[in-house]
Amino acid sequence: MTWLDVVAEDDLADGAAALFRSAFGGEPDGVWIAPGRVNLIGEHIDYAGGLVLPFALPYATAVAVRRREDTVMRAVSTRTDESWTGQLEEIGPGTPSGWAAYVAGVAWALQEHRIGGVDVAVHSSVPVGSGLSSSAALECSFALALSDLFGLAVDRNVLIDASIRAENEIAGASTGGMDQNIAMSARAGHALLLDCLDGSTRQIPIDLAASGTSLLVIDTNAPHRLVDGQYGARRAALDTACSELGVATLRGLPLEEAVSGLVDDTLIARVRHVISEIRRVELAVDLLDGGAAGAELGELMTASHHSLRDDYEVSSPELDSAVDAALRTGAYGARMTGGGFGGSAIALVPSDLVRTVADEITSSATRSGLPAPTFLIAEPAGSAHRFF
Ligand code: GLA
Repeated sequence: MTWLDVVAEDDLADGAAALFRSAFGGEPDGVWIAPGRVNLIGEHIDYAGGLVLPFALPYATAVAVRRREDTVMRAVSTRTDESWTGQLEEIGPGTPSGWAAYVAGVAWALQEHRIGGVDVAVHSSVPVGSGLSSSAALECSFALALSDLFGLAVDRNVLIDASIRAENEIAGASTGGMDQNIAMSARAGHALLLDCLDGSTRQIPIDLAASGTSLLVIDTNAPHRLVDGQYGARRAALDTACSELGVATLRGLPLEEAVSGLVDDTLIARVRHVISEIRRVELAVDLLDGGAAGAELGELMTASHHSLRDDYEVSSPELDSAVDAALRTGAYGARMTGGGFGGSAIALVPSDLVRTVADEITSSATRSGLPAPTFLIAEPAGSAHRFF
């Protein structure tokens, strides 16, 4: 069984600073760190004006950055030999491509604030392609670095928006904004209730240990499949449903009314997921407000997974195998988390059963010829910040 080590913040920062020195020479002006996340419940509804309940992970991305006197940007990462050097003015949709789009895109989105050139070195402990929001961790750490280094005097909402635009417009991933919000607004020991209709937030205390539970994260190590096309198709389906129903948002619409106003079975199923998932988030928040984080919360998580699997069709054999194995071995509930089509699942587990559950998830994957998963325990961590 493989467990993912938490990398201490000073080791993360040292890794980024060491790469900076070897790639560019001299010292960075500073190091900024932003976390990855899991979403407890509220999946594929951020772009539908829904409610989501993510929390930040103690797995994070560090960027070591130094201002330049010109308008050149250079970006390197400990994850890849692929580096990028370019002029700020050449950044645009599709340029650069690959991982550098997420950093260059942030500089592009903040250009009206008179950003200059920078050198940036990246070091991260957030697994890539695992649905744990490595891209938002990268965008948000870098957005905060630019804000500090160029004295932008803007609040975090501006940096959140810039990070979302980087991902949507430069990297070309039409994601919904949950990940950037949690990276910038997380509080240790809390999940963030984010209302994606009006942007309001509420910090919800979560003390899993006090209720004898653990949140096991299962990175299935399955490559994302067709993510971009399928993700965009789900968003487009909801737009079609809204225009057929003559509403601006599905939020607040009774399920029966939505179902009776639509003809196409697939659209009905997509809408059923969105409306029922919003309700599940409301119920989960009620439970957490009442101090409950056991069987009832687990039931909501499992119902969320079934809805994502059957109605929204964004699960995968690896995710289903992990969820089923967790439920068979005593988890209170389990579900995929993040965009789906591979990536990670989460299971709410009585703490004394964590090893048993992880063992069965691994054996079950092996029996089905699926990749062996990697495990981590999620404890709600804090938001993006300057390390030095
Ligand atoms: C990805 C996106 C988010 C959200 C989730 C699904 O993580 O980045 O905006 O849509 O998928 O809930």
